[in-house]
Amino acid sequence: MAQTTSIVTESGKVRRVIVVGGGLAGLMTVIKLCEAGIPVDLFSLVPVKRSHSVCAQGGINASVNTKGEGDSPQVHMEETVYGGDFLANQPPVNGMAHAAPGIVYMLDRMGVPFNRTPEGLLDFRRFGGTLFHRTAFAGATTGQQLLYALDEQVRRYETVNVENEKGVVVRGEKMVRKFEFWDFLNVVRDDTGRAVGIVAQDMKTMRIESFVGEAVCLATGGPGIVFGKSTNSVINTGTAASAVYQAGACYANGEFIQVHPTSIPGADKLRLISESVRGEGGRVWVPKDPHEKRRGRDIPESEREYFLENKYPGYGNLVPRDIASRELFLKCFHENRGVFNTKSGKNELEVYLDVTHLPKEVLHKKLAGVLEIYEKFANEDPYENPMRIFPGVHYSMGGLWVDFEKSQDGRLVVGSARNQATSIEGLYAAGECEYAYHGANRLGANSLLSCIYGGMVAGPAMATYVRNLDRSSLDVKSSVFDTAQKKEQAKYDRILKMNGPENAYKIHEDLAQTMLRDCTIERHNDVLEKVIAKVDECEERWHNIGVTDTGLRANQGAQFVRHLKNMLVLARVIAQGAKNRDESRGAHFKPAFKQRDDENWLRTTMAFYAEAGNKSEVKYVRSLDYSLLGKSMHVTDAVDISLVKPRARKYEQAGAASAGAADKKSEAPPKAD
Ligand code: FUM
Repeated sequence: MAQTTSIVTESGKVRRVIVVGGGLAGLMTVIKLCEAGIPVDLFSLVPVKRSHSVCAQGGINASVNTKGEGDSPQVHMEETVYGGDFLANQPPVNGMAHAAPGIVYMLDRMGVPFNRTPEGLLDFRRFGGTLFHRTAFAGATTGQQLLYALDEQVRRYETVNVENEKGVVVRGEKMVRKFEFWDFLNVVRDDTGRAVGIVAQDMKTMRIESFVGEAVCLATGGPGIVFGKSTNSVINTGTAASAVYQAGACYANGEFIQVHPTSIPGADKLRLISESVRGEGGRVWVPKDPHEKRRGRDIPESEREYFLENKYPGYGNLVPRDIASRELFLKCFHENRGVFNTKSGKNELEVYLDVTHLPKEVLHKKLAGVLEIYEKFANEDPYENPMRIFPGVHYSMGGLWVDFEKSQDGRLVVGSARNQATSIEGLYAAGECEYAYHGANRLGANSLLSCIYGGMVAGPAMATYVRNLDRSSLDVKSSVFDTAQKKEQAKYDRILKMNGPENAYKIHEDLAQTMLRDCTIERHNDVLEKVIAKVDECEERWHNIGVTDTGLRANQGAQFVRHLKNMLVLARVIAQGAKNRDESRGAHFKPAFKQRDDENWLRTTMAFYAEAGNKSEVKYVRSLDYSLLGKSMHVTDAVDISLVKPRARKYEQAGAASAGAADKKSEAPPKAD
């Protein structure tokens, strides 16, 4: 095959790659591409330093075993697979777990202010789904520290000149060009279907433009806003992933939505109260008397029920999130044992999360960031009062389907163009917008890791892809880009002209209420039918929206109408996937099908978009074929379980039934330091 290995064409044009999303996954992808000598255009809806990664609190997992507990990357991999209820393909998880220690050391060298032990070693804390101290952390603002560290690296590349093969500087061309406040609208595909660029909108001027890219990577985060208020940032509508799904990309395991057990309300969104609070010894409880009227701190120890510790003596408050959230829901919703609110006169869907027994200097050193958030938004001092928390939608395990190439040692072939490749040739995905690393339930502190690892894999994969292309995107006819741009412009112009009676924000509220109530912790098929009917109804209503803002600058009203359409499409994927999957696995729990069903459901849900009149539809497939660099790839929905044999999860039985070396650990919960 003819190859276009040079990144500067004979006519002196620079061949660039496009990365959309400036969070950890996007930035890491950019860094890796730059290291490989590939110039990048980086697009972000918000200033890069405000990407949602900034909200991550508790830490990043890496089995460094500095505390001599017998932890290892192998155990990390096994616990991640086990915690994810065996739905994740195991080689990518294996690759991630083995790369994790190197990633944390790299971040340390970049200057991330990780907490350290008195000896000066990196400190590690406990998180859910493991008995080991595996989570490196920078207080409770780890995401912010990591994001800022990678941002600095990318800024450096913004000043580095592009050079041709002979080392001659290409004047005026820098390795990274950054486009902030640009909203991704769609991928541009050439006549063979290959991704050759994007169309995006400048959210200040509302100008819609097309951009050429040799390849495109989406690193655009999750779809939490489909559920209304969640711990996600308000930008996390899933719009980009939805747009490329509608353009023909496969979406995988959409039904797996993680609910974090501990969050608090806010006018705009929920605030996360990090799992690290429990990792440092925070305890979850409800009063034994359901009508208890005293303040939490006045209720004596003997009158408290530590329901997680009682039921899960080994893991205690640190059972995986799917289990913890279900237990909270059971306590509050089914047993009506949530904390009694004297104002409303009823038991709320809230329980106590208590750190008042822990030394204040430890709290300051390790949890100040999150306790400050609680104090600010709940207006109560968490050092003196048990916090009142409740479950909140937090993360999507599902996302764009991406491929991988397995190495002989059961990890990934680094640099294979298949890694992180979506089913649209030339389109890659990394971070929460894709589905690869967490199976049916993500373990806490594995997301920062999967974002960075995904970027470390996507970058080299794209570099290989670009260097082996037989035609540069720069050689694609300009009419292809003009047509794509005009199509998006026409869609936007239609939105500006919408003058029906419906309010987009009201439709979103209706959708979100239904999704939150009926498609999260507990799912019932008859109710899911109604959720799908609600999506039908909302999609119909969408066409009768009256746009509230027709302004020519920074028009967030019209932008929201666009995002709403894309959210509706993903809502259907989530609800329909949940309806189809008649089993309980990880975050997907159906009381009518309580068991995991490996016979029928040890498989990836693969969804493709279809349309019927005004409505979206989902087409499910058991296998797919896609092309890559002139070859046809065939993949099926069978989960790769080549490394750890599926078995039932039994967290109740202390650490005894857990994976790997955790088997050998004591039955008693480890003490907080
Ligand atoms: O609870 C937390 O700090 C969240 C971490 C995560 O989602 O990985």
